[in-house]
Amino acid sequence: MAKQKILFECENCGYISPKWMGSCPSCSEWNTFAETVEKKKESKKHKVDISKTEQRDIVRLSDVRTAALERKSSNLQEFDRVLGGGFIEGSFLLLGGDPGIGKSTLMIQVAERCPNMKIFYVAGEESASQIKQRALRIGLKGDNLHIGSVTEVRSVIESARRLKPDLLIIDSIQTMYSDDLSSLPGSVQQVRECSAMLQQIAKKEDLTTIMIGHVTKEGDIAGPRILEHMVDTVLQFEGDKNHFYRLLRCVKNRFGPAQEVGVFEMKGNGLQEVLNPSQLFLSDSGHRVSGNAITCVMEGSRPILAEVQALVSPSNYGTPQRTASGFDQRRLSLLIAVLEKRAGLQFTGQDVYLNIAGGLKISDPAADLAIVAALASSLQDRETPADTLYVGEVGLGGEIRKVAFPEQRVREAEKMGLDNVVMPKTEPMASIKRIKLKNAARISDLFR
Ligand code: TYD
Ligand code: MG
Repeated sequence: MAKQKILFECENCGYISPKWMGSCPSCSEWNTFAETVEKKKESKKHKVDISKTEQRDIVRLSDVRTAALERKSSNLQEFDRVLGGGFIEGSFLLLGGDPGIGKSTLMIQVAERCPNMKIFYVAGEESASQIKQRALRIGLKGDNLHIGSVTEVRSVIESARRLKPDLLIIDSIQTMYSDDLSSLPGSVQQVRECSAMLQQIAKKEDLTTIMIGHVTKEGDIAGPRILEHMVDTVLQFEGDKNHFYRLLRCVKNRFGPAQEVGVFEMKGNGLQEVLNPSQLFLSDSGHRVSGNAITCVMEGSRPILAEVQALVSPSNYGTPQRTASGFDQRRLSLLIAVLEKRAGLQFTGQDVYLNIAGGLKISDPAADLAIVAALASSLQDRETPADTLYVGEVGLGGEIRKVAFPEQRVREAEKMGLDNVVMPKTEPMASIKRIKLKNAARISDLFR
């Protein structure tokens, strides 16, 4: 096959140039040129003779026949939950996450749980013996796991055609390359080209494919967003290096609900499913101090109880510190301002530290009320009432707003043995039996 000609394309406006340029003559943007391969001239093919347009190209929607989506379980409950019930045959998935978070481990564990699935694992990052070591830790015999160490995309596709696996795992897409391009593996062009070829094969041959991808510092999956458009499902594996829990989050899903999360814990023998995450994030010391409050955040359709910890102490420096971990710092400043203005508390000259226990990161506005309660509790050095859940969004006027899914949150609190809920007035909740609801409309109500 003749080598294809290398061209450069402006990623902003699509201008094609035979050489790389710093600034695009068409749209004047800087640094937008990326390598691409010349598209084959298919002039004859592209001249459409309308009279000969085959009828099969156009179908009436009502005539489209669909098989019911058949899902293959991974036998990992938390993984299935995130996928929406299991793998769909021929689906094309992207699994992103920081290095060392456990992406390869998760894939090996799927192999361990599915002994009847023939799995082709393309290992670009590690040697077969390293994978064997990991597999031994997890207890995988590995009769169903075939390891390939070639990373040239055409060879991978050839091998997959010969092997006919049920599942193809690419670890990682950044180590794959195509001979057609001169750029290095991991460059935007290589990632894009290789994914496009893998996508074709996944769709054409109904081969379920999972590509592992690294995330950049900014949190985007390296090899730009274009990858996210190409795949059916985007999964993000998140967690904190200093904590053992891991969240598997579905960012996009063409075959099920997005934003669903699965919770795992990294143990010595691999990832363990956490079926009751609230337990993981509530501290169970039984030792109560001021500055703590419990809230319930929604992760996908799952309510998870979380503990907010605030520490307010006199500042030694001119400008008091405002530090938040697991929570947006600007939102913390805003809530402090609301407390000062609407509840008459004074944080001047006080350092404020806020922490979400267990390393959880929360962005659900329903946590506002617990943060406000924790801040006030620490400032006044008075414990919040025991076994109480705080749920509500705090507005700038000091009003407490309703949140989504109130009943699920309260039910979770009841399940975890809490006795009281402080929240804005809501419709009656039929499924709530034991827990006591205390309505609060304004943050000043907290101090009554
Ligand atoms: P790995 O799956 O290699 O991460 P990724 O593919 O996302 O880069 O996981 C690596 C980390 O997980 C490593 O720091 C060791 C830890 N680990 C355990 O704690 N227990 C285990 O059983 C395994 C296999 C790994
Ligand atoms: Mg890995």
